[in-house]
Amino acid sequence: MEKVSNSAITEPMLALAQAVARAEADPARPIYHLAPPANWNNDPNGCLYCGGYYHVFYQHNPYGDEWDHMHWGHARSRDLVHWDHLPIALWPSKERGEQHCFSGSAIVSPKRQPMLFYTSIGERPPEQWAAVPGDNDLITWQKHPANPILTEKAHGDVTIYDWRDPFVVTDEGIYYMIAGGNLNQGKGGQAVVNLYVATDDELTQWEYVGVIFHHPDEDVTNIECPNLFRVGDKWVLVVSPHRAPEYFVGDFEPARGEFTWQSRGVISHGNFYAPQVMLDRRGRRLLWGWVTGFPTGRGWNGCLSLPRVLDVNEDGRLVQRPAPELAELRGRHTAIPGFELHGSRVLGEIHGDTLEMVARLELRDATAVGLRVRRSDDGERGVAIRWDGATLDVAGTQAPLRLTSGQPLELHVFLDRSVLEAFAGDGEPCMTRVISAADGDCGVEVFAEGGAAVVAALTTYDMQSIW
Ligand code: FRU
Repeated sequence: MEKVSNSAITEPMLALAQAVARAEADPARPIYHLAPPANWNNDPNGCLYCGGYYHVFYQHNPYGDEWDHMHWGHARSRDLVHWDHLPIALWPSKERGEQHCFSGSAIVSPKRQPMLFYTSIGERPPEQWAAVPGDNDLITWQKHPANPILTEKAHGDVTIYDWRDPFVVTDEGIYYMIAGGNLNQGKGGQAVVNLYVATDDELTQWEYVGVIFHHPDEDVTNIECPNLFRVGDKWVLVVSPHRAPEYFVGDFEPARGEFTWQSRGVISHGNFYAPQVMLDRRGRRLLWGWVTGFPTGRGWNGCLSLPRVLDVNEDGRLVQRPAPELAELRGRHTAIPGFELHGSRVLGEIHGDTLEMVARLELRDATAVGLRVRRSDDGERGVAIRWDGATLDVAGTQAPLRLTSGQPLELHVFLDRSVLEAFAGDGEPCMTRVISAADGDCGVEVFAEGGAAVVAALTTYDMQSIW
């Protein structure tokens, strides 16, 4: 980790350093998913490509492995695959009554100034604050002298509850911010996304345009971490509505303060929340999410998903694929020739708890087909990924998956100790699961139920650490 001389982060960095040995010794801890050196993380924040590096920040409690004391942790990578930890980037400015630095985003301003935007939480209503780098490498950060850059006053007579998570995006030279919340104290049916437009090149002055999106489901009480971005001639709105994050593909008309949508779907089923997107130098839209639901008491808790590349397909649906750069992490590989499968077969040549698996499975006469990972030698334990022609089940979490008759299931699975990510079909659905398994359970098995299936192709790779 980079050394930094900043007394404000001495204490949290020390607390963090004390937890590292314990976190690293835990065999359940992922090795190729982005995470803090130890202790708690939640949402990815401020994802930015700048100066030849991918920067990813994240909600972080350096003092423990449960949610509290929100700071922004920071890591960077040249290739999207190998990462370095950097010092804590944002911490609560206690002298200004700030208690938490909540989620937010990053952008380079018209003045070519990299900036972070986030929600400042204290014993007062939430405010939106900005931060700027204190060095050319974007390693140290300072709160902007213009803070707060946006307060509730901007809304005039409108009251927005749970107002937070500024996401800044630029289009045709105009800088927009959106933020989440609700209009009725979280009673349901009034969860909204709010739009603001920058009125200066420093991005410190913003005007409220209005509500651009009401969540269509009555049972949604609030929207967190909205993201808005263009893909071709479509716009995509991503929201975290206190359940699996969703996307809406449609049209954004800033002049009318309107976002209208034609299709919707789920970003990732299972243990996944608060994703954030960024644009990279190749013009790709990348997405990271927070992998949720780990047990506490182990000196670490949380990681980010693998980076995904987003696209909108011909049917107007958002499709996601693991970033192709992840192939850099591949070690030894095993390619298994296709075979007809009756019952189950243990794949003796494959063994491990950090694996990438690319499979093509045909249902044929079977009622279900699948893979089991983290299998115990006696076959008593294991974690199944199972498809019955209508539903994909990953470690007990289900998502609909229907293919045209006879079409094989393309499965792309990443196992990273206690994290399982599965990409299926043509880029939808995606599943993220936190699993528990005994240390030595490292076998892999394929299975067919109710008849014969075909394993048309199966290649696996041992995966290496990103650190
Ligand atoms: C989403 C969220 C955000 C908030 C942050 C606090 O997980 O609740 O709305 O800014 O986490 O850590």
